[in-house]
This record gives sequence, C-alpha cells and structure tokens, in this order.
Amino acid sequence: MNVLILGSGGREHAFAWKIAQSKQLQNLYIAPGNAGTANCGTNLNVAVNDFEAIKNIVWEKDINLVLVGPEDPLVNGIHDFFLNDDVLKDIPVIGPKKDGAQLEGSKDFSKQFMLKHGVPTARYATFTKNNLNEGYAFLETLEPPFVLKADGLAAGKGVLIIDNITEAKEELKKMLVDAKFGNASTKVVIEEFLKGIELSVFVLTDGKSYKILPAAKDYKRIGEGDTGLNTGGMGAVSPVPFANEAFIKKVEELVVKPTIKGLNKDGIDYRGFIFIGLMNCNGEPSVIEYNCRMGDPETEVVIPRIKTDFIDLLQGVATQTLHQKEYETITETATTVVLVSGGYPGDFEKGKIVNGLNNSFDSQVFHSGTKLDGDKVLTNGGRVFAITSFGKTIEEAVNKSFATADKINYEGKYFRRDIGKDLKIYQ
Ligand code: AMP
Ligand code: GLY
Repeated sequence: MNVLILGSGGREHAFAWKIAQSKQLQNLYIAPGNAGTANCGTNLNVAVNDFEAIKNIVWEKDINLVLVGPEDPLVNGIHDFFLNDDVLKDIPVIGPKKDGAQLEGSKDFSKQFMLKHGVPTARYATFTKNNLNEGYAFLETLEPPFVLKADGLAAGKGVLIIDNITEAKEELKKMLVDAKFGNASTKVVIEEFLKGIELSVFVLTDGKSYKILPAAKDYKRIGEGDTGLNTGGMGAVSPVPFANEAFIKKVEELVVKPTIKGLNKDGIDYRGFIFIGLMNCNGEPSVIEYNCRMGDPETEVVIPRIKTDFIDLLQGVATQTLHQKEYETITETATTVVLVSGGYPGDFEKGKIVNGLNNSFDSQVFHSGTKLDGDKVLTNGGRVFAITSFGKTIEEAVNKSFATADKINYEGKYFRRDIGKDLKIYQ
C-alpha cells in the first residue's frame, strides 16, 4: 500500500512514524513534510491546498490512501475534489468532506449541530453586524468572563475571553463591523463561559461505527502556570488522569453517540477524525468545540499510545469496516514537551541550526517546524519539536522529555518545564 500524508507538523510526523511501522506499507510520501518526516518516507514539495499538484502525486506515485493532517484542505474541500475527479474518485481520503469539515469551519454551524442533536454545550447566540445591538443585549444576560468566537477559521486566534463587559462590547463591534478577523468574523458566536477543566477526546469514524482514541490534555499558553499568550500547544499528556473510565463512558453516551447519529441524520458521510474539545464541569462533559482533524501536539501522545496497525484502522475507515478492526492501546502515560522558537507565538526567526539530534534519547523526537538543508536540520516554524516519552507516571514520562529537550539545542530554544504538573493531584 502506498500512502500520502498531507501536512508538515508534529502531528504529521507522528502519523508518518506510526504508518512507517505498518507491515502493509510499501511507500510513504509526505507533502510537504519536514526534516523528521524525511526519516519515515519521502517528502514531496507540494502545498496542502494545491489540489492539482496533489492529484499529480497521487497519479505518479500510485497512491492508495491519503491521510489529511490539517483542517485547511478539508474545509477547502479536498475530499470533495477527489470524489468529483474521474482519476481520483476511488482513492480513499481520510478526513471529512466539506460538509463534515464545517464542524470546525463554522462555529455557528457546530453550535447549531450540537443543539439540534442534544450534545451538551454552553448556551450561545450568533450575531452579525446587522444585529449588533442584540449582541450587546445578549452580553448583558451573561456573567463575566464573556466568550466571543469568530465563526470561521482564524488560525486559532478567533476566540476572545474578556472579563469586562464594556471591553467585550467593543471587541464584538471590532469583530463584526471592523472585520477584526476578516471574513472569519462576519458572524460571531457569543457563549456562556464554562467553568471546569479542559481535555480533548478523539474519535476515528467511518461514518457508521467509531473508535474512541486515547484522550489528551493540551497546554495552550506560552508561559509556565498557564500564563501569557495562546499558542498552538506547548505540550500534552495522555491519558488524562481526571478523565477516568466512567467519565469517558459519559462522553461516549452524551457526546460521541449523538454526534455520530447526528451526522447520519443530517446526511453527512464523515470519514476521519473528530477532535472533541471538552470541559469537564464537575464530572459532566460539555463540548467547547469540534475539530475535523487530530490535534497538535495531542497526536504526538495519542498516536504512540495506539498499539494497533494504523493502516489497518485507516482502511477500516475507508471501507466502512472499522467495527471489524481490532483496536488496542498502551496503558502507560505518554507526555510530549514542545520546543519552540524564541519569540513565539509573536515574531520569531527561522533557519537556526539544530544541534544534538544525534544523541541517544529515551524519547521519540517528533519534528514540528524543521527543514533539511543538506545534512543540517534548521528551525522552520514557531513550534520546532515535540518530544514524546513514556512512563509509569506523568512525572516519570515528562522528566524523560525534559532530559531530551536539554540535549537538543538551537538559538532561542524555549519550552515549558511544568507540563503535566497540574495533573499530579489527580493521579
Ligand atoms: P476554541 O478555539 O473554541 O477551542 O477556544 C479556544 C479556547 O478558549 C478553548 O480551548 C478554551 O480554553 C477556551 N474556551 C472556548 N470556549 C469556552 C467557553 N465557553 N468557556 C470557557 N472557555 C472556553
Ligand atoms: N492543540 C490544539 C489544536 O490542535 O487545535
């Protein structure tokens, strides 16, 4: 089997690493990939939204399955593009079509979906610039802090959480009237603030049946103690100690089953990952958001905890035989620590030479933002590496990740040394 992975981050390196272990694999291609994925297969210099160029790769390399990493090509309709093309239509794409990708592509769509299908979520209303005053009035009915969300994709920056009502009204106006997030904030969802502790649950579905993958907790802020600006994610832990079997069962009954049923009822044939961002509010799950892909850096702890042959699972998705597939996980704890470029998530420089990658590590080093320059590895993004380790406890795992992080060097390296620390009380 020849597989093509689309994307270039730590998530895609983790996919590539796992797929490269499959007995069913003949050739693995990653477009565009990074210096890490080059160790698992062949990188091809094609952008994830260049569908015509992707078509050529699929044709030339005789690709049998395409796994889409990021949300962008899914929201832009790559799966539909394949289905509508005579050459591509029988090549399975793992990732939803445009309709299913709206679960992530439009916050308004996903809130309506949750309401319609009885999935627990925060109370909300959606506004445009034509009913700005109603938006102000809705804010008055809520307790602070106020949650404002740009409807469309805004590179992870479209959610504002604001303590002060005057400021919340100003921001609402900026989003709707001044197009603060461009077209993404033509509509704004305002919702109730949920108090609790956050985690992510991942589902792989063929549209009919599903497997619940390991849950993970992500660390979004740049600073230790969850301070400072939001990032793509500074680390992750799986399993999540406060999400015990009983809680996950609740998530399955209250969220996963109604979501899959709802997709069916709405005629959305969804084949791929559903990333469910959840708040655990005193033991009750409430959905913050859906994403139509795996999380990054969550994938770097979730995928290593899956024992099963990954191509086998993906084939189950493609042929709607997922229910027949065995699925086993590793019970040990996995942690990942993300090394970033100095300045991230603000301005940062790329092209710094990375040293120390040839050391021996008690971790799996996933590349997030790197590129090859001859035999040198250069930094090529805000997030540079995700260092995953296993342990009997979070502490044991994360200490291995820190030890590896200390052996890898480049100018401006930064990482959080408190990943998983907050979870000790639950263990
Ligand atoms: P989202 O892009 O929807 O994941 O939102 C970004 C982050 O904002 C989430 O990961 C949460 O930490 C936070 N957030 C979003 N919605 C809410 C809410 N209703 N209550 C509390 N926190 C929220
Ligand atoms: N780590 C959060 C995300 O992938 O959206």
